[in-house]
Order: sequence, then C-alpha cells, then structure tokens
Amino acid sequence: MRVLITGAAGFIGSHLVDRYLNDGWNVVGMDNLLTGDMENLIAAGGHPCFSFVHCDISAPWPASISDSGGIDLVLHFASPASPVDYARYPLETMRVNSIGTQNCCEAALTWGAQFLYASTSETYGEPLQHPQSESYWGNVNPIGPRSCYDEAKRFGEALVMAYWRSNGLPGRIIRIFNTYGPRMRRSDGRVVPNFIAQALGGAALTIFGDGRQTRSFCYVDDLVEGIVRCADSSATTGVIVNLGNPKERTILDFAHTVSDIAAVPLRVEARPMPQDDPSRRCPDISRAKELLGWEPRVSLEDGLRRTIDSFAKAGNE
Ligand SMILES: NC(=O)c1ccc[n+]([C@@H]2O[C@H](COP(=O)([O-])OP(=O)(O)OC[C@H]3O[C@@H](n4cnc5c(N)ncnc54)[C@H](O)[C@@H]3O)[C@@H](O)[C@H]2O)c1
Repeated sequence: MRVLITGAAGFIGSHLVDRYLNDGWNVVGMDNLLTGDMENLIAAGGHPCFSFVHCDISAPWPASISDSGGIDLVLHFASPASPVDYARYPLETMRVNSIGTQNCCEAALTWGAQFLYASTSETYGEPLQHPQSESYWGNVNPIGPRSCYDEAKRFGEALVMAYWRSNGLPGRIIRIFNTYGPRMRRSDGRVVPNFIAQALGGAALTIFGDGRQTRSFCYVDDLVEGIVRCADSSATTGVIVNLGNPKERTILDFAHTVSDIAAVPLRVEARPMPQDDPSRRCPDISRAKELLGWEPRVSLEDGLRRTIDSFAKAGNE
C-alpha cells in the first residue's frame, strides 16, 4: 500500500510519515518547506520505503508524481497552520487550501485513491455553540486577520464535498483541534511551544487577555491514531469528523501545568488579546467515538512531559 502525504516535513505530517512507515506502507512525502523542516524527516530519511518530493502543491505537480500510479491514499496536510505563519503567508495559505486541495483531489481521482483533508477547528470561528459539534456552521469573521486561514479551510471543505458529490471522490474531512507534541517549532507562535520555550528559557509566560479563554490540547500520537482510523474507514466518506481532546482548560491553568512540569516558578506577562482570538474551544467528539471507536488516551501531563523533554533535548543539541 502506498500513501502520499502533503506537508510531510511539518509537525503533524512528519508524525504521519513515521506512523505509516511503521505500519508497513510505502510513503511519498511532498513539501515546499515553507513552514516545515527536513529535520522532522531525519528518522524517515533513511527508510527504503520513503521518498520525498520538494515542490509547491499549489503549482502544477511534477510529472514524476502525476505519472506515478499506485497511490492508495492521499493525506492533504500542507498548509501554514499557526496564526504567526498564516499572517506571514496569507496568499500562500489561501492558495494551498484552494488550488492545492483541488490538485490533491484531482490526483486522488486519477489514482482511484482514498482522500483525507486536514481542516481545522478554526472553521468554527468564535463559536456560539459549546462544545462544537460537526453540525455547527461556525461564526467566522470573513475579512478579519484570521480569515485567510479560516475561510481558506472552509473553502477547502466545500471543495472536497463538491468532489465527493459530483465526482464520487472517496474524500473525508477532519477538523483538528489544538494539537501539540515533539517537532512543533519553538517560534511558531502557538501557545504550547511558546510556553515551553519560555519556561525552559527562564522567561515569563506570555498570556493574551486575562487567561480565562479556554483551549483543549490533544497529544500528537492520539491525533495520528484518529487520522489513521478515519482514513481507513468507509463510514467516513463524505463526512466531517472532529478530532481533538475534549478536556477543556483555561490558558492560565495550562500555564500552571507547564511551569509545574518544567519545574520552574510561574511568571506571566499579560498582553492584549489579538483580534478574533476565540474565547472558547472544545470539541464534541461523539462522532469520532461512534464511527472510529476513537478518543484521546494520553493525559496532558504525560504529553507535556514528552514534549518538554524533546524541546529540552533539541535545545542542547
Ligand atoms: N497543529 C494543529 O494543532 C492543527 C490544528 C488544526 C489544523 N491543523 C492542520 O494540519 C495541517 C498540518 O499542520 P501542522 O501543525 O503540522 O503545520 P506545519 O506548518 O508544521 O506543517 C505544514 C507543512 O505544510 C508545508 N506546506 C505549506 N504550504 C505548502 C505548499 N504550497 N506545498 C507544499 N507544502 C506546503 C509546510 O512547509 C509544512 O511542512 C495543516 O493543514 C493545518 O491547517 C493543524
């Protein structure tokens, strides 16, 4: 079996590469290294069943990819994902989720492959329903600073559904809620790497607003297990599935947990809340439980310990 993973050099993509290689698949990774790093593929690099194509998936694909038959599954994970990244690359973000998604859908159709699109909880915007279930349509500011990401993902979702309805593409969509783990970039601006890098560096933890906004944090191994099950399930074609950890925490509570595990005294620095930053975020994962028998297993404390260890190790190398 052969899987094509876009965004393979990124945080989640590289964990997927490792998982599918471990499961005995041949893996083709595609990435233009916009926000990714070949360091993330060091483990996979020497594997005889892994190949890497350096290219922009929003541009016409190299003939070597288009002509290669025998892809059974396409996992589309290429896209800037953190607010810092998509603020820096707004047009690239819109292109990769529109033209890039179309290129992936066309390739999957040509190959007769299964398809999975990585969407996001950001499609719920500032949610008026809590927790967020897949049937909720969201409350997104279509022209705000986050819209290049939120609306691009919403367009990507609509595109996958159109391919499924009109061309019979066996596509499914996952909406990923905040995920963390080893290989996140220290500087990607998301709260987990921010807090860990600040705690390990002896700096105050930056809290936006009063810290009472909530997030739910899913460890990357749990997410990868959910993705593998979703991609493998015929019950998910034409369906959207939330994947995330339903244990909701305030950011202030999370700051305490990080400083406890990093064994440093908690110091915080308050900054104004960025525009359109959602105040609550928590997935309803009933559908994932019912269709996939999936729910997160790794506790926040265990996941943070593994992540902090990997950051500390990387910092010493
Ligand atoms: N990490 C999360 O908590 C989270 C939450 C919701 C959704 N997601 C989605 O999961 C996917 C992966 O996120 P991540 O956290 O691993 O981000 P990441 O930035 O670490 O990885 C994204 C990868 O895509 C590559 N890429 C970007 N544009 C490309 C293009 N045009 N052509 C080829 N490669 C390109 C980047 O170089 C990078 O390696 C994204 O689609 C993101 O929207 C992630």
